[in-house]
Amino acid sequence: MRENSKAALHEATAFLERKIPFTPSTGIILGTGLSSLGETIAVKTSIPYQEIPFFPVSTVESHTGNLVFGLWKEHEVVVLEGRVHYYEGYTLQEVTFPIRIMRALGISTLVITNAAGGLDPGFSAGELMVITDHINLIGDNPLRGPNAESLGDRFPSMHESYCPQLIQKTEDAARERGIVLRKGVYVAVPGPSLETPAETRFLRMIGADAVGMSTVPEVIVAVHAGIKVLGLSIIANVNRPETLAPAPLEGVIAVVKKAKPNLVNLLEGFLDRL
Ligand code: HPA
Repeated sequence: MRENSKAALHEATAFLERKIPFTPSTGIILGTGLSSLGETIAVKTSIPYQEIPFFPVSTVESHTGNLVFGLWKEHEVVVLEGRVHYYEGYTLQEVTFPIRIMRALGISTLVITNAAGGLDPGFSAGELMVITDHINLIGDNPLRGPNAESLGDRFPSMHESYCPQLIQKTEDAARERGIVLRKGVYVAVPGPSLETPAETRFLRMIGADAVGMSTVPEVIVAVHAGIKVLGLSIIANVNRPETLAPAPLEGVIAVVKKAKPNLVNLLEGFLDRL
């Protein structure tokens, strides 16, 4: 059975529905280095990915792998603690299976976070960026193949993939809480190799402000499924073509850990407005 088949979706959803205490309204995906929201969320149920039928399990150490159901500021949320990536060898259907599951469980809003490399030379490491649009350079699409009309349209419009109202709420929260918030276009590359100076120059030239190896397939499936999306990047490093330096994973994680309180603060302000 294929992990993205209707039967797999049905089995995983039925398994979770037997375990969960409520119907979540909002999904949250935690990116590299964020691993959990810790004390901020009143956890009701936490389910290791390994226990969920057909759920993809991350091979990257920085992504732990629990599906958490809890209350955050009175909102019933489901949190993906860690995700899988295309560069790990998964298909984009596998990568986005958790989005289909969260949709089947009832979410209508999805907050996607990631660690990204900054391409706008005005950015600084540790800053937050709200994603306004994206460019898919992965060279693949999670919707490739037969379309299940019950899940969404064959040719979903991507003209407003990142919900303007959710972006506005995030900007309002940032202003209220004194958090520096950048805005920009995220470009997804397949990875796992990082960009060359020429690629960095190219990505900037085509209009990207940040680069990473996730998020875009998840957004495509969320839009296909009729979910409103908010995308937030933690700028882990800033890539300047002339002075490009290594961006080792430990460095990325260290910056993300430092930026996490700001991200949590921003999300709390966002949830207040939801
Ligand atoms: N490039 C691609 N992905 C990334 C980077 C980067 O510089 N930093 C964090 N994720």
